[in-house]
Amino acid sequence: MTRAQLDRQPHEVAAMFDGVAERYDLTNDVLSLGQTRAWRRAVVRAVDARPGQRILDLAAGTGTSSAPFAAAGAQVVPCDFSLGMLRVGKQRQPALSFVAGDALRLPFEDAAFDAVTISFGLRNVQHTEAALAELLRVTRPGGRLVVAEFSHPTWALFRTVYVEYLMRALPAIARAVASNPEAYVYLAESVRAWPDQRRLAALIAAAGWGQVGWRDLSAGIVALHRAVRPG
Ligand SMILES: C[S@@+](CC[C@H](N)C(=O)[O-])C[C@H]1O[C@@H](n2cnc3c(N)ncnc32)[C@H](O)[C@@H]1O
Repeated sequence: MTRAQLDRQPHEVAAMFDGVAERYDLTNDVLSLGQTRAWRRAVVRAVDARPGQRILDLAAGTGTSSAPFAAAGAQVVPCDFSLGMLRVGKQRQPALSFVAGDALRLPFEDAAFDAVTISFGLRNVQHTEAALAELLRVTRPGGRLVVAEFSHPTWALFRTVYVEYLMRALPAIARAVASNPEAYVYLAESVRAWPDQRRLAALIAAAGWGQVGWRDLSAGIVALHRAVRPG
């Protein structure tokens, strides 16, 4: 693994997403063989947004992960620090109220949200623990957290094949379909370096969240972690 890829500064991460914004959603669908749609449906069920609730979708990117909460009648706030992703999001989802903000210094008051969620973004934030603490701060007591993130396949043989797929095939496929293939080399490397399901649950609990649990999706390619802010 090239540490240079993973030690990226926040402005470099933001610039990388600026570069992929236009083709981000299409590339996701191609690389995941359409699985992202099922993963997104699972996030929506876990968040269980109700009319009138305030939901923060952090690292919302182009807003694809945010739109279903608005459709459920909730007041969703898509927040991201890549202006390029926000610009494409605003063009595609003009009804959503996008907010520019950094996960490590969220521009929201304490206890402002009924639920907070982050899909495929926590892995990109420089300090995972600090982001989890910021998410806790802006959630009301009793409010909930849902994190969707690439994780570690639970079946050893499949895990080996998967790592081979990621490390060998992903950059080549990305070169064919993505506007910025480097971003997908970074994706493969950051997924390998990311904590497994149990370790991420421990980080969430250490940040002050209660009732932490998780569910594997697609045999652990993705994990959905849930938690509640203690009352
Ligand atoms: C893979 S995209 C996910 C977008 C969206 N949630 C989705 O599911 O399609 C990751 C996003 O995290 C954002 N991001 C990374 N670090 C961030 C930070 N510190 N604060 C805010 N957004 C961040 C990036 O700009 C990028 O748009």
